[in-house]
Amino acid sequence: MGKITTDVINTQDIKVEQINTYLGVQVTGVNLSSGLNNAKKIELENKLAEFGVLVFRDQPMTGDQLLSLGKKFGKLGVHPFSPNDKKEPSLILFKNDKNNPPWKTDVWHSDETFREVPPFATILHALDVPKFGGDTIFTSMTAAYEGLSDKMQHFLSGLEAYHDFIVFKNVFGETPEGRNKLQEYERDYPPSLHPVIANHPITKKKLIFVNPQFTVRIKGMDDTESQQLLNQLYDLTKIPEYQYRHHWTNNTLVIWDNRSTQHYAVHDYFPKKRYMQRVTISGHEAPQNAFTRADVEHVRNRKIRTPSELLALHGGHMPKKVKS
Ligand SMILES: [Fe+2]
Repeated sequence: MGKITTDVINTQDIKVEQINTYLGVQVTGVNLSSGLNNAKKIELENKLAEFGVLVFRDQPMTGDQLLSLGKKFGKLGVHPFSPNDKKEPSLILFKNDKNNPPWKTDVWHSDETFREVPPFATILHALDVPKFGGDTIFTSMTAAYEGLSDKMQHFLSGLEAYHDFIVFKNVFGETPEGRNKLQEYERDYPPSLHPVIANHPITKKKLIFVNPQFTVRIKGMDDTESQQLLNQLYDLTKIPEYQYRHHWTNNTLVIWDNRSTQHYAVHDYFPKKRYMQRVTISGHEAPQNAFTRADVEHVRNRKIRTPSELLALHGGHMPKKVKS
């Protein structure tokens, strides 16, 4: 019997139970630190695309095991601003307690959308968490899009927005070294332009791809218009019907689809201890615009036949014929 056939039989062990309406499933029947073969990995990727958030309980895991689990799903990214492990920079350690309060994750966001190709998924594992407090709330940006009226969906089609790492800029400090370092990062991570409505690469469903942590402006809009529209879209993440609120217990592991969900880490546990470890799987491609954009310049150039110099000279009106 070949390896592939064995893998197919093994996938029947995985059990998936839906735990919320628009996103979130609990997965059992797999040991993530040792028993994830290729067929199971593919099955999990499909479930991730379908349900957005996969929850695994009772999965003890060292940092090395988390790194090797992450590598099964793809190339691991190194977060430029997070508290990375010294030896293995793709491993992020969140060690929040009374001496180290949590920082800047109580904002709705998808991870690292300031990148041209944002991560496709994030894996977060609970090492030592409080009995209550420190939940993570996830929201489905597919459901948020589908809840909009046809008119609003139509209005948003084809828009693009700039994403920037602006939230991290004050970590560099007001010193000459800090300013130089910031300039270096600005060169390495210039603002990225992403579609406001993207297509999920697997499900092909449309989703809203702007978030209040990294999106700074909608292209081609006045600042006030842009901010008002963005705020309106950000408000959708707060609608409870689109959310799944996850309560952590030690050794719970969650994988979320960074393309179709946003999350918010609830900061209600300080000064209690909340130790987590995370790896981030790099994306395969930049978010794809869900709509084919009209080439407006092309259309306008064909429609307006008057040479532009004449329009400028005569305020848009053709000159009267001079009597001979
Ligand atoms: Fe995050």
